[in-house]
Amino acid sequence: MRKQILELEKLSSQLEPDSDIRKHQREPVIKYSERFLENLSGAKAYEPPVQGNEKLLSEQFFEEGIDVHKIIQSVEKSVDRGGINPASGNHFGYIPGGGIYSAALGDYLAAVSNRYAGVWFASPGAVNVEKSLCNWMADLIGFTGNSGGYLSSGGSLANLTAVVAARESKGISTLESSKTVIYLTKQAHHCIDKALAIAGLGKSVIRRVEMDNRFRMDPAHLNSLIEKDIQNKLNPWLVVGSAGTTDTGAIDPLNSIADVARKYNLWYHVDAAYGGFFLLDDQVKGKMKGIEKADSVVLDPHKALFLPYGIGALIVRDISTLKSTFRFDADYMQDADSEPAEYSPADISPELSKHFRGLRMWLPLKVHGVAPFRAAIQEKLLLARYAHEKIGSMSGFETGPEPDLSVVTFRYIPGNGDPDEFNRRLQQELLNDGRIFLSTTLIDGKFVLRLAIVSVRSHLSEVNHALTIIQEKASQIDN
Ligand SMILES: Cc1ncc(COP(=O)(O)O)c(C=O)c1O
Repeated sequence: MRKQILELEKLSSQLEPDSDIRKHQREPVIKYSERFLENLSGAKAYEPPVQGNEKLLSEQFFEEGIDVHKIIQSVEKSVDRGGINPASGNHFGYIPGGGIYSAALGDYLAAVSNRYAGVWFASPGAVNVEKSLCNWMADLIGFTGNSGGYLSSGGSLANLTAVVAARESKGISTLESSKTVIYLTKQAHHCIDKALAIAGLGKSVIRRVEMDNRFRMDPAHLNSLIEKDIQNKLNPWLVVGSAGTTDTGAIDPLNSIADVARKYNLWYHVDAAYGGFFLLDDQVKGKMKGIEKADSVVLDPHKALFLPYGIGALIVRDISTLKSTFRFDADYMQDADSEPAEYSPADISPELSKHFRGLRMWLPLKVHGVAPFRAAIQEKLLLARYAHEKIGSMSGFETGPEPDLSVVTFRYIPGNGDPDEFNRRLQQELLNDGRIFLSTTLIDGKFVLRLAIVSVRSHLSEVNHALTIIQEKASQIDN
């Protein structure tokens, strides 16, 4: 047996390379990442699927390893090609972020040390990193006292966690959910509907509250809907406001919604996945007044804090609401109970073993300080106003409302023919071209294009470049 163990050890030791082999493996990775970043400004923002993407599916995993140089070639040719290039500053679709380099260094360290970020006993340092980040976001929101939060993999999971906590805190039974009512606008992100379905609340009554002409919730209509539902013996319990909708970046009147939520004792959730970090700007903070009265708020550092995909945050006004929802015990975890800290991430969220994702946010905030993040946020706000003004003055174009944040909606009105069809074609031409990437949506049933200026790498030259291409393509089609 001893002989067999030693033979297996010899082979399995390949998983623990020595310093020379580590260097050999690391160098092509670093070299490629440098080349990737250096070539970004000239790279396409969108590219149709390339042949290599398909080939990956048929490639086999062999018993013998392959040299890392060859693998990196495959990453370059087959993985990092085709589809959207999220690192590009010419990516203006959906909600980009870019992905800052210092976050990659944080991820690298987190993966090397593999600190166990779910439980304080296992890694007090990693847990305290996560708590300090959540405290920072709680301060940004304006929460005081007993607030706290959890770092999730993204906005959808953070919203789901909030919905489950709200359900438990309000004592909503999934069996009787058809008598309970949830209030949101048509502009709330669809991950809320998904969260409700996952949380067993798919049969709840969902009221779509009316909006003003800038797609912001009408609190008076919210109030009247609740009144009517109470008269009809239904149970209103949750209202979801948006601090930056995905379609247009609209900010709901959070303070007035808070008043209504308080009046009827509803759980007040604010989805600030896109807009949350714009709180770094004082003017936006003013527009988001009332967010501090929410029970729960979601922010996505992989959007307007420019981190790579894979990090969201749920911050709650009272951390005990998460503890009472998500704290479970197991015999085999009894040693971990001896922690002096009040709670671990595992006690306040669905996760146990979790990626030490705090380091990818903590390290950049420490390395750069907060000021460059604030400047980047303010830059995007001004760029959106600039683009809104410019597009408004471009012949043939009409724009949506002046942006509350950094999404500009617009469409081209052709001399004749169906505007929806024209703009669909314009989008297709932009995709075929690939130098910039924009996504589209339907506003009041009309097909519109969106310029979402959120990427850390989108600056004045990228926005001007985008406007030139948009105008050029529209003129070509309208000929
Ligand atoms: C306002 C808003 N909420 C939630 C989400 C979902 O976040 P994620 O994609 O991180 O799951 C998004 C994504 O764009 C969003 O814009």
